[in-house]
Amino acid sequence: MPLLSSSLLNEIEQVPSYQIYGRVAGILGMLVEVAGLDRVLSIGARCNLVARGNRRVPAEVIGFREKRALVLPFGSLDGVGLGCKAELADSDPVIRPHHAWLGRVINAMGEPIDGKGPLPTGIEPYRLRASPPPAHSRSRVGAKLDLGVRAINTFLTCCSGQRMGIFAGSGVGKSVLLSMLARYTQADVNVIGLIGERGREVQEWLEDDLGAEGLARSVVIVATSDEPPLMRRQAAYLTLAVAEYFRDQDRDVLCMMDSVTRFAMAMREIGLAAGEPPASKGYTPSVFAELPQLLERAGPGVGKGSITGLFTVLVEGDDHNEPVADAVRGILDGHIVLERGIAERNRYPAINILRSISRTMPGCNSDAETALVTRARGLLSTYEDMAELIRIGAYKQGSDAATDEALAYYPALESFLSQGRTQRFQIEDGYAELARLLNEAWPAEETNAQPGVDALQGANAEAQAERVA
Ligand SMILES: Nc1ncnc2c1ncn2[C@@H]1O[C@H](COP(=O)(O)OP(=O)(O)OP(=O)(O)O)[C@@H](O)[C@H]1O
Ligand SMILES: [Mg+2]
Repeated sequence: MPLLSSSLLNEIEQVPSYQIYGRVAGILGMLVEVAGLDRVLSIGARCNLVARGNRRVPAEVIGFREKRALVLPFGSLDGVGLGCKAELADSDPVIRPHHAWLGRVINAMGEPIDGKGPLPTGIEPYRLRASPPPAHSRSRVGAKLDLGVRAINTFLTCCSGQRMGIFAGSGVGKSVLLSMLARYTQADVNVIGLIGERGREVQEWLEDDLGAEGLARSVVIVATSDEPPLMRRQAAYLTLAVAEYFRDQDRDVLCMMDSVTRFAMAMREIGLAAGEPPASKGYTPSVFAELPQLLERAGPGVGKGSITGLFTVLVEGDDHNEPVADAVRGILDGHIVLERGIAERNRYPAINILRSISRTMPGCNSDAETALVTRARGLLSTYEDMAELIRIGAYKQGSDAATDEALAYYPALESFLSQGRTQRFQIEDGYAELARLLNEAWPAEETNAQPGVDALQGANAEAQAERVA
C-alpha cells in the first residue's frame, strides 16, 4: 500500500503544530463576524467555527469590516453563537483527485454522496481555485469531436478543447441535451458539475438520463439549490479541478456544468453578503470578474490532454441579452441556443441553428462540408424570413424561387434537426444524410482530405516551432 501511506504522510504534514483562533463577534443572516484573526486571515482563507456541542462548521473569509473578518459558512449555523471559537484552517484549499473517482458522485467538499463507500485520495494536490494555463503556452483546439447529436455535429461542429455554452430559458431541454452529450460524446472522461439543481432532479438525471453506462466514465459533482452559496460556488471550482486532474493525465476530458447561471447566482449571494454594490440585475461586479476565471480553466492544456467545456446557461425570462448570458457568450467559443417556441412545437433538441454558432467553424471543416452546411443554413434562413407570411397563408407559391426551394426542403431539414433522447448519430453520417436530403452528391470529391483540419494542425505545428525558437 505505498500509495496510501504516502498520501497519509502528505496529510500529516499538513496538520499544523499549533492552533490559532479568534471569536465570533456578530452574526447577521448567514454572515458571521470574527474578531481576533484580522491579522492572519485574508480573502479566501478558511476557518472553522466551533458550534456548541463541538460541531465544526467550515467557513470562508469574504471581506473585512472594522478589524473584523466577515466569513460565510459552508454549512448550517445552528449552534453557533457569540463568543464561539473560530479556528484558523488550511488557507489554500486543495483536493486530491484519484482515477478511482470515475463512476462516483461527490459533493462540493469532495466527499462521496452515492453510498458506495469511501473515496481513495490521490497524491498530487489540485488547487480548487487554480488559474487557467498561460495563454501563450496553450495548445490550439484539436480535431473535431463527435458529440453524437446530429444538429450540433453538422451545424455547430465542436473541436476537442473548445468551450461551448447551451443557452435556454427554464424547461426548454438543457439538462436532457446535456445528458445526451454526456452519453454520446467520444471523450475519455466526463466531469459533470450539477450546480444549484433541484434535489429531486439530481437522482432522476443520474438514473434516467445519464444511466449506469454514462456514469461509469463520469465523475459527478453535486451541489443542490438548498446548499449554502459557498458550497454551490465550490462545486463549480471542484468540477474544474477534477477535470484538470484528468487533463494532466493526458486524457481528453469533457467537462460539463449545469448551470453556470446558478454559479453566478451563488457568487451574487456571496458578493451582496460581503457588501458589494449590486450592478446589473443585482449581480455584483465580482460575478463578472469571476466568470472568465472559471470558464477559462476549460480548453486546451499545455500538454496532450484537453478539457472540452459544455456549460449550460439558464436565460432568465427568455431574455438572451440578460447580463450573465451576455458575459458567458463573450467568454466561450460558441453558443447553442435552445428556443421555447421550437420546444413548444415538439421539435427536440430545440436548437435554433440560425442563432447559434461555433467559432471554430468553418476552420475545422472541409470545403465540401462547409458548402453543404452553408446551403442548408441559407435554406433555413430564407424560410425563417418568410415564416410569418407562410404561416398566415399570405405567401403564394411561385412568387419567389428561393422561397419555394426553402419551403420544399423545410420539413426534411426540421426532421434532420430533431433527435430522440435515445438516438445517437455519428458525425460522418450527419453530412451524408444532409447531402442526401438536399439532393447533393456525397461524398463530394475532395471531402476525405479535410483541408480545414490539416491547415489547423499545420498552423499548430508552426506555432509550436516558433515557440521553441
Ligand atoms: N430530447 C427531448 N425529447 C423529448 N422531450 C424532451 C427532450 N428534451 C427535453 N424534453 C422535455 O422538456 C422537459 C424539460 O427538459 P429539461 O429538464 O432538460 O429542461 P431544462 O432546460 O434543463 O430546465 P431547467 O431550466 O428547469 O433546469 C423534459 O422534462 C422533457 O419533457
Ligand atoms: Mg435543467
